[in-house]
Amino acid sequence: MEIFRTRKTLQDYIERQKEMGKKIGFAPTMGALHKGHISLYETARKQNDLVISSIFVNPTQFNNPEDLEKYPRNIENDIRILKESGFVDAVYIPEVADLYPEIVESKEYDFDGLENEMEGKFRPGHFNGVGTVVEELLRQVHPDNAYFGEKDYQQLAIIRKLVEKLKLPIQIHGVPIYREDNGLAMSSRNQRLSSSQRDAAKIIHETLVKVNDWFRVITVSEIYDRVKEIFEDQRGMVLEYFEIAEESTLKETDFFYKDKNYRAFIVVFVGEVRLIDNMHLD
Ligand code: PAF
Repeated sequence: MEIFRTRKTLQDYIERQKEMGKKIGFAPTMGALHKGHISLYETARKQNDLVISSIFVNPTQFNNPEDLEKYPRNIENDIRILKESGFVDAVYIPEVADLYPEIVESKEYDFDGLENEMEGKFRPGHFNGVGTVVEELLRQVHPDNAYFGEKDYQQLAIIRKLVEKLKLPIQIHGVPIYREDNGLAMSSRNQRLSSSQRDAAKIIHETLVKVNDWFRVITVSEIYDRVKEIFEDQRGMVLEYFEIAEESTLKETDFFYKDKNYRAFIVVFVGEVRLIDNMHLD
């Protein structure tokens, strides 16, 4: 597996691969790799000649400096995981200046309102930060296909919008959430949970499964009440938000219309760790 630590060396490599007509699949990450990332690489491997990943903890997408500081970083372990997976041909591990040559600041984007829903309300500026780094990475890597996890479903919708608005010739693929045995969505942040917190956090997925059972059986507001009640009884957990939104606009709904698709979104603090999850309702 090739490792590129500068923009220049990456670009020489990409040029050579493009000249050979290779189809490139790209999965950007912030490291602390886990099985969820492996499932991105596995999907990319099946659809491309070459699979590239990147590892970069992007400062502009953290609205909370403590969260940025505590974000798990272990490059050597990540490189080992990438090599062992056997799915990845090259990894790009840039310095801040490779992605932000002038100033470490987000651009301002208009994602047609997607950025104002859910995470946008709780993490101001977050999606401008994601947009800035993803745009730059896509422009440097020039992939044919790019892969993102459905765990961050709003991020996935925003990246699709980014690519559409910038008219980048890249196909964006969402990869289903990879779950631990107890149902907890795989996340780099899970490393910060104690084993008892990790066990207790299974209630998040269990709640989404219940919500799916209640979908179109009881009203939206009854579902909200039941979800709130579940978390009022959980010691050491705080429900930050629960929303049922229409899948294409991500706008919260107060009624289930027949011809629309819906998804439930949830964010829970388990101790100090903020966990996010979602589920398509059917
Ligand atoms: O989902 C992530 O890991 C990050 O938000 C991404 C897409 C790599 C941008 O920093």
